[in-house]
Amino acid sequence: MAATKSLMMMMVVMVVAVKVVMASPASLTDSASERDGKFLNLNLLPFLSLRVDPVACSARSDNSSGTCASAGDCRKYGGKADGSCFSGFGVCCVYQMKCGQTVRANNSYLVNDDYPQTLMDIDNCQYTIQKVNDDVCQLRLDFETMELAGPDDKSICSIDTFTFVGTAGANPTVICGDNSGQHMYLDLGSGNGGARVNIATTSTNSSRSWRIKVTQLPCDSPSKAPANCLQYYTDYSGTINSFNYQDEEGLHQLASQSYTACIRTREGFCGIKYMSDHFSISEDAANEQAKKGDNDCKDDFILVPRQNKDGTVDEPDRYCGSKLDDVTTYSKPFELRVITNNEEPSNDKNNRGFSIRYTQIPC
Ligand SMILES: *[C@@H]1O[C@H](CO)[C@@H](O)[C@H](O)[C@H]1NC(C)=O
Ligand SMILES: *[C@@H]1O[C@H](CO)[C@@H](O)[C@H](O)[C@H]1NC(C)=O
Ligand SMILES: *[C@@H]1O[C@H](CO)[C@@H](O)[C@H](O)[C@H]1NC(C)=O
Repeated sequence: MAATKSLMMMMVVMVVAVKVVMASPASLTDSASERDGKFLNLNLLPFLSLRVDPVACSARSDNSSGTCASAGDCRKYGGKADGSCFSGFGVCCVYQMKCGQTVRANNSYLVNDDYPQTLMDIDNCQYTIQKVNDDVCQLRLDFETMELAGPDDKSICSIDTFTFVGTAGANPTVICGDNSGQHMYLDLGSGNGGARVNIATTSTNSSRSWRIKVTQLPCDSPSKAPANCLQYYTDYSGTINSFNYQDEEGLHQLASQSYTACIRTREGFCGIKYMSDHFSISEDAANEQAKKGDNDCKDDFILVPRQNKDGTVDEPDRYCGSKLDDVTTYSKPFELRVITNNEEPSNDKNNRGFSIRYTQIPC
């Protein structure tokens, strides 16, 4: 056993050594790339420190995403060691940022102060996200936990707000309520333009908590979403929920939304079918009524670009009301636009938003 282990360690050292030999001398002395997190130092032995590309690892305590680093670098960049990696030569470093802190590492988490305890205070919590290097084009946020106060009786986020905005000046997305399990993408400007996440809480009578994973996607990453897709679903089939969608009845729809949920077209698939598990966007949720077209759907609606298999178009693309009949389209790229205005008129009752399943259709 012991012999096998030392053999494995030797092999790891050899693999790491090969990487270093291949790195150009410029990159080894470039302290800027060291600062921006392109490389991580592993202190293999007191006299031997090697710089390697960041390698992902899983934290020992809860499988959070971490980056393999030396214990010293982990501390230096504000992370916490949680388990080991590289056969014990490195630590699995998890970056968990609190209000007011700046994210400088890939796969960092944003949490409320005192997480996992909840926050009851009036607060204005801001995180700055800096690109780990110039070749980052997009951010993905995964809301592992995202529980804020819900909207008021006009669907407006007037108590708590979550705002995600690029320093390049993209339109901010503002949501509130319960959004655990949801995700968002944001395109970043070129150069070193980063982003901001702002969570404002204005009452002392709700308990909130959040833990958000921030992934930095390189410009040539296959995981990158197409431009202007706030959400991106990549499976053959899945479920798209509106923000703050909840299983129980009640007014959960959010006002002032305008975004696109995109679905990656899988190879060999030409169409897509949408089926709703729940749909109430306008009118009275208790009184099922399917509405469509520009005249009936003016304020709150979803828009699905329509096209039949033969290329003809004979159906409107806007859907609203309190029921959605199945929608099939062959228009590409597959996308679903969500529009709500800034109020909830009195004939709209208990709009919950939507939970829509999609399935791609083979060619
Ligand atoms: C971490 O993931 C492994 C494999 O998926 C699983 O067996 C283990 O129970 C997980 N541990 C925790 C603490 O979630
Ligand atoms: C909580 O506080 C907000 C603002 O201070 C107020 O509008 C709301 O009615 C309160 N809710 C409860 C349940 O007390
Ligand atoms: C960040 O980590 C993800 C994996 O979690 C990886 O796909 C991506 O390339 C990394 N980004 C950078 C800039 O290295």
